[in-house]
Amino acid sequence: MALLKRTAFAGDLRETDIGQRITLAGWVQTIRRMPGRLFIDLRDRQGIAQLVIDEATQPALYAQASGLGREHCLSAKGEVVRRESANPKLASGEIELIVEELQIHAPSLTPPIHVSDDDQAKEELRLKYRYLDLRKNNLMNKFRVRSQLYRTIRNFLYDEGFTEFETPILGKTTPEGARDYLVPSRLHKGKFYALPQSPQIFKQLLMIGGADRYFQIARCFRDEDLRADRQPEFTQLDMELSFVDQEDVFAINERLMQTIFREMKGLEIELPLKRISYAEAIENYGTDKPDTRFELLIDNLDEVFRQSGFGVFRTAIAEGKTVRGLFVEGSESYSTKELKNLEKLAKTYGAKGLAYVILDEEIGGSIAKFLNENEISDLREKSAHKSGIYLLVSDTKKVALTVLGNLRNQIAKDKGLYSSDSYDMLWVVDFPAFEYDEEEDRFVAQHHMFTAPKPEHEALLETDPAAVMANCYDFVLNGYELASGSIRIHDATLQQKIFEVIGFSEQEAQQRFGFFLDALKYGTPPHGGIAYGLDRLTMILTDTDNIRDVVAFPKTLAATDLMSEAPSPAEEIQLEELHLSIEE
Ligand code: AMO
Repeated sequence: MALLKRTAFAGDLRETDIGQRITLAGWVQTIRRMPGRLFIDLRDRQGIAQLVIDEATQPALYAQASGLGREHCLSAKGEVVRRESANPKLASGEIELIVEELQIHAPSLTPPIHVSDDDQAKEELRLKYRYLDLRKNNLMNKFRVRSQLYRTIRNFLYDEGFTEFETPILGKTTPEGARDYLVPSRLHKGKFYALPQSPQIFKQLLMIGGADRYFQIARCFRDEDLRADRQPEFTQLDMELSFVDQEDVFAINERLMQTIFREMKGLEIELPLKRISYAEAIENYGTDKPDTRFELLIDNLDEVFRQSGFGVFRTAIAEGKTVRGLFVEGSESYSTKELKNLEKLAKTYGAKGLAYVILDEEIGGSIAKFLNENEISDLREKSAHKSGIYLLVSDTKKVALTVLGNLRNQIAKDKGLYSSDSYDMLWVVDFPAFEYDEEEDRFVAQHHMFTAPKPEHEALLETDPAAVMANCYDFVLNGYELASGSIRIHDATLQQKIFEVIGFSEQEAQQRFGFFLDALKYGTPPHGGIAYGLDRLTMILTDTDNIRDVVAFPKTLAATDLMSEAPSPAEEIQLEELHLSIEE
């Protein structure tokens, strides 16, 4: 039997289609049986339309449709007519299709989840039956946005003279700081490929190779602790440019972002974007990826509490620790119970407690009775004499800022301090080149080891590595680190020096990156670049805070695929071929 071919989409049908003879194709959303009549809601990629089969006029069709159930797949031909009573919940609610011909393509088992945008099924079940979950239009539409994003990016970059490349998946370790996924080699006993954590080294080699402007929509693999915005495999928009400085990288990327938001959201982003230094971000927002859709800055209250009658604060400051605070306007803004919950949250980020002072006509709060006139008047001044609650944390600078940085985001969410369709983007610049890793007792690169120190700081590499700033930058959007990049080292001697600072012996550096150090010696152009997390950008564009909503076949937080049950054991013969044995 010839395929009954689709001529229209169910979700697109409107009053203007009345009188048309059309064919729809899709899945049964629901079926209602009335005496002598069958109503089928048929769903396709655009939405839903109602089909009607009348037993008296179409007995054969009625019999054919009698076994239909949810998620059966079919095509139906018929005439579009006005519905007797319109359904305002459906875009096609004014019309229905009187079926004249039906082709049932495939039955369906009873679906374990309800293919409906308001389905309440647990995520584990949805992931196990991902192909059914994907039939939900609100989920599938996120992938349409993702696809449109790719098209917008590609068009923009092609027009700007970029060449799209593919770099190896089977490679050598990349230094992005996570664990590698390793692939054992069959032909080379005891040797392994590493899946790329990013195409970093290859894109720099492409600059040495004269590519000039490279980009790739690149799959990256990182065996790291997963979170709501992290997957073990994810996709970067990776780019690199030759003969550029930081300003050039910013300019082209700002225009890229402007184009994306113009084309996909109809929004005009004003350029240039704002920039704040890493130090400023940490001091004011407690994080290097500040959500700047709302103010709510963290205050340094050391001078207020240095002589405090509250011993905990006074001692902390005397010991070189600090007291930082967040002022939340409105003295009624948090109940005692809510404050307890905030304290619990603060403790998950390492706080020992969360003190608070209520500034109103009267003074209240957990430490009010210890405070003297001066402290209170200082706090009033700091909060511009508004009534509200000061949330206070005393600890090391790192802990206090981390805690308040996280509380800040929670408070903004609780109090609706931003609208979900606002977008605020900025560059964070002037990062330190290195961080001291207490556990490993050595410096590690803050971004990665190919990042160029600021030229005026190169001399400090030998004397004071902690003071060296790097030419690297993050692009932050609504509190997400969306992209990171840097100007790279294009001089082999300087690269070698960086390896020394982070404790790589010459031999180790040679063994891991010898090929790259060699390449740097053949006339390397100055170059720099950036990589965006495209999953994260899609999350923002589709307004979800779950990365699994924008990955077609995602992994759980335990890095498993619940549908295919990957990872799974290998056959004994495969292990043998790979020269591996599993320890019990
Ligand atoms: P970086 O490691 O900062 O830089 O990664 C760049 C961007 O990739 C995204 N990202 C992730 N997204 C989802 N899941 C993950 N596990 C994950 N890890 C990172 C983030 C991040 O900002 N080679 C450098 C870039 C460069 O210097 O050009 C790099 O990979 O959005």
